[in-house]
Amino acid sequence: MFSKDLFKGKIVLVTGGGSGIGFAIAKQMLQCGAIVWIASRKEERISAATSQLSTFGEVYGTTVDIRDRDAIEVLLEKIKDKCGRLDILINNSGGQFPSAAEDISPNGWNAVINNNLNGTWNMCQMVFKSFFEAQKQGVIVNIIVNIYRGVPGMAHTAAARGGIETMSKTLAIEWCNRGVRVNCVAPGIIQSSGLENYPPELLHGISDKIPMKRLGTVDEIAWPTLFLASPMAAYVTGDTLYVDGGQRLWGDIWEI
Ligand SMILES: NC(=O)c1ccc[n+]([C@@H]2O[C@H](COP(=O)([O-])OP(=O)(O)OC[C@H]3O[C@@H](n4cnc5c(N)ncnc54)[C@H](OP(=O)(O)O)[C@@H]3O)[C@@H](O)[C@H]2O)c1
Repeated sequence: MFSKDLFKGKIVLVTGGGSGIGFAIAKQMLQCGAIVWIASRKEERISAATSQLSTFGEVYGTTVDIRDRDAIEVLLEKIKDKCGRLDILINNSGGQFPSAAEDISPNGWNAVINNNLNGTWNMCQMVFKSFFEAQKQGVIVNIIVNIYRGVPGMAHTAAARGGIETMSKTLAIEWCNRGVRVNCVAPGIIQSSGLENYPPELLHGISDKIPMKRLGTVDEIAWPTLFLASPMAAYVTGDTLYVDGGQRLWGDIWEI
């Protein structure tokens, strides 16, 4: 889709790059000339993905838990030692589970907020301080969720992703004269590994309820992510690009 030199020589970190949407973003970045780091918790997942992705270019895989600031420090040091800089951060790691609001336990609530909101915050702040501030340059794209009309059936992730969106707008302004852009991509329902965590009955017939009558693909999330990370979006910051086949505007996805 894009020129093979679009990200030539750029150093890119994709959290959750070992699976699904993150893997597609990492692959497309490599195909556009970037040097890519992927990182998540599971060693086997990261090493398998790194070996698959290595056919497309220069890729490094390492474990990290985005909730753990010490572990993030180690990851960023590795990137600094090997590459000397980091140009683009794609915060894609995250997850949630469906539940009626009244049934979410305090532990379940805290787990989703801690992983999605606090984890993304940790990455944004630590990458800024370790790289972007001194470089006077950097790009962040945060992969969130379609939160346009709330997220009925997942109040925890609605709160977490809404928090990421307003945090991103805030960082976009605080850092816009420091050479840093911050934007979000809000996927609708995407045919990706993340869907395996949902009961099949919840997904049955769901395509019919999306205005475009189909689920999105992982590449259809990766393309707009690359656009926002690229110089083509040089004047775009603090924005959210919805990639959802019209789902935010029309139709009820779940039975409430
Ligand atoms: N698929 C959809 O329909 C959809 C829709 C809207 C938004 N999204 C969001 O898009 C992102 C990617 O989704 P996907 O469908 O590709 O699902 P996925 O394959 O489950 O991707 C989630 C990734 O996040 C990593 N991760 C989770 N917690 C982490 C942590 N604490 N530290 C580091 N890495 C962590 C996981 O790897 P490890 O297990 O190895 O840590 C995994 O690679 C997620 O944030 C998801 O919520 C997906």
